[in-house]
Amino acid sequence: MSQALYERRQEIFGRGAHLFYQEPLTLVRGDGVYLFDEDDRQYVDMYNNVPCIGHCHPHFVEAINSQVATLNVHNRYLHEGILSYAERLVATHHDGIESVVMSCTGTEANEVAMLMARTVTEGEGFICTNAAYHGNSAAVRQLTRARGSKLIKPIPFPESYRCDAQDKRQYFLDRVDEQLAAFKTENTKLAGMLICSLCANEGLPDIPQGFMREASERVRKAGGVVIADEVQAGLGRSGNWWGYEESDFIPDIVTMGKPLGAGVPLAATASSREYVEKFRLGSGYFNTFASSPLQAAAGNAVLDVFESEQLVRNSATVGRYLARQLESINEDVDHVGDTRQKGLFVAIEWVESRTTKKPDREGAVRIVNSLKDRGFLIGNAGAFGNVLKLRPPLVFEQDHADEFLNAYSDVVKA
Ligand SMILES: Cc1ncc(COP(=O)(O)O)c(C=O)c1O
Repeated sequence: MSQALYERRQEIFGRGAHLFYQEPLTLVRGDGVYLFDEDDRQYVDMYNNVPCIGHCHPHFVEAINSQVATLNVHNRYLHEGILSYAERLVATHHDGIESVVMSCTGTEANEVAMLMARTVTEGEGFICTNAAYHGNSAAVRQLTRARGSKLIKPIPFPESYRCDAQDKRQYFLDRVDEQLAAFKTENTKLAGMLICSLCANEGLPDIPQGFMREASERVRKAGGVVIADEVQAGLGRSGNWWGYEESDFIPDIVTMGKPLGAGVPLAATASSREYVEKFRLGSGYFNTFASSPLQAAAGNAVLDVFESEQLVRNSATVGRYLARQLESINEDVDHVGDTRQKGLFVAIEWVESRTTKKPDREGAVRIVNSLKDRGFLIGNAGAFGNVLKLRPPLVFEQDHADEFLNAYSDVVKA
């Protein structure tokens, strides 16, 4: 670690600007799934989902360079690139998704979705989970680990590992019913439910089968709409285009961000044409940097690579391989309570012991740091911070998985 850089950072950003790893990394370049530090030491990036097509993909680099050198204006003009991008993006969704509002961050996409839901329902209240993160604006952050208020009511995040109810699906559906009833009692009209399709920040739980579909039906019946946050769950991560396909439900509104622009800020909120038009006519929404030719060049280049390198399929097949091998290593490790996987997204529940299931955050942090010392970058996350989070760029291949599995096996057995 460069002590001088660290101290300058503390000074200029102020303390509290979080860094990863006990010995923070100074990164200088990236290439595919690899990152390199100041001493040219190589790390396998198994954490970053924004560079979904791999770091510095040549097609992407060429596309954004050439766009910057040609035209880069705001969105009050007609432009072929942004329309073809919007059409391509919408075509990856279910039939009810027809039109789109572009923005720059996941937070903005969720802000737009909440406004859209409030416009079309004339309601105000939202259901979310109790360990969610959907962004950091004043409105959206009310959903962060919400404890319950007149407008925001959380349900315990749907999961199968610690829930000991006999019918887990019914247990969580009952919690949805309770919150819908609470809105009614308090005379708050419902706007909808905002939920990450994979509950990624909650720790990628095994969501009881049928829960998302049935919860969505209950929300609609109560007059609300269903917003799927695909900011982390989407664009191939689960081995499907979108996380809602994996979790088997049909959202009315979807929000997307992070990987869409592979590092160029690009986010979107998509829905039926009717909902999008109601939102636009009601709000006059404008976002200076959104729908620009640069965003279009980035988004189109990402989709080109998805098509040419079949990244959704790669996510499904390599993810399955990685998880199967991990399960066989984890069999003998009493600290691993559960190994969960959706495409190239793996969550390893690090616990004090399998019997107590007590989250062991400190142990997880030790594993993350030891793996970093071995040249593999992962993270710890989830509701209790104890989940080892593996979420590599989608160009991650079986050979990379094998390299990682060797190191992982040594580290967890030590
Ligand atoms: C599920 C989810 N939604 C929304 C966001 C917010 O995205 P952004 O940081 O681009 O505003 C995040 C960021 O971590 C996220 O994980």
